[in-house]
Amino acid sequence: MKKNNSSTDNQSYRLGITITEHLLLCEDECPAATGQFTRLLSELIISAKLISREVNKAGLADLLGATGDINVQGEKVLKLDEFANQALIWRMQRSGLLCAMASEENADVIEIPDNMPKGNYVLAFDPLDGSANVDANASIGTIFSIHRRVERTGCGSLDNFLRYGYEQVAAGYFLYGSSTMLVYTAGNGVHGFTLDPSVGEFLLSHRNITMPDRGKIYSVNEAYTEYWDNRTKTVVDYFKSSKNDRGKPYTARYIGALVADFHRNLLFGGIYMYPADRQDPHKPHGKLRLLCEAAPLAFLVEQAGGAATDGRQRILDIKASELHERVPLFIGCKADVEKATEILQDKQ
Ligand code: AHG
Ligand code: MN
Ligand code: MN
Repeated sequence: MKKNNSSTDNQSYRLGITITEHLLLCEDECPAATGQFTRLLSELIISAKLISREVNKAGLADLLGATGDINVQGEKVLKLDEFANQALIWRMQRSGLLCAMASEENADVIEIPDNMPKGNYVLAFDPLDGSANVDANASIGTIFSIHRRVERTGCGSLDNFLRYGYEQVAAGYFLYGSSTMLVYTAGNGVHGFTLDPSVGEFLLSHRNITMPDRGKIYSVNEAYTEYWDNRTKTVVDYFKSSKNDRGKPYTARYIGALVADFHRNLLFGGIYMYPADRQDPHKPHGKLRLLCEAAPLAFLVEQAGGAATDGRQRILDIKASELHERVPLFIGCKADVEKATEILQDKQ
């Protein structure tokens, strides 16, 4: 088995390579770069710092609990969901770098107001993933996906978002956990930065993260076993069996925040699954959103040497057909995802 070499890079942490320095170095290596992408990431980072600040003081500042609203997904909107969404929309629409946005919390494409400058990119995001964990002080995050705009259509058009995952130019997440981290890819590996609150900077802490070929963790909400089809049950049984290719059961870990479950499996090796649930009218295609959850994490996982599928096809090969499309998701170490796919397609 390949060794996971995603260790904390103490050397660069001590030397303090900031995300800005890292982005500028990458820009230098790309002669065609205009600097717009670096500025876009920088704006996202400022938004995430604001969100991180509010998350950290949520228990003190009446920021826990629900707003009383229900979002486009039919889910309760929490106060921090709303804050994170507003912070991202407010900052990013002024950046001059985007021509449209899509948020998990908004039914339609968010257009850039007429009086504001437009840019060449479109941004899809889940402002706060795993927000049901907020009141328990557990890890949550912001997931983002960046595409270049579709040239032939108008700025706010839906076509900018109905794209293949492999067309993303960058994707990543901010994790608000025991520390705040940024993990991102622009197609040149996966890089992790940890926010040093004393200097207010993200410093390179995880250089070129790679996953082992096979993991040791499986993550799934097993309470729904009764609602899965037989093949899905067989997949989960495989990871629990001592007769699997690992020769012993995988260990179960499930936080209930995709971004936190994904991050742990990225670092330690494992597979995260959110299958289709044919009994629940809200989840015939699973629960997770293609554009702001599955596709960005699929881009990251592939860049780290892993894989992601809906059981039939590679997540990055799916062309979105609606803004809030949901997909079943099996994501993690390559050999584990391939095994799940093999069982789901009954090719044993
Ligand atoms: P969100 O908080 O953005 O609505 O996402 C919640 C998602 C995801 O983070 C998590 O993996 C999943 O819901 C958990 O769902 P179950 O409670 O059904 O396991
Ligand atoms: Mn989410
Ligand atoms: Mn969310």
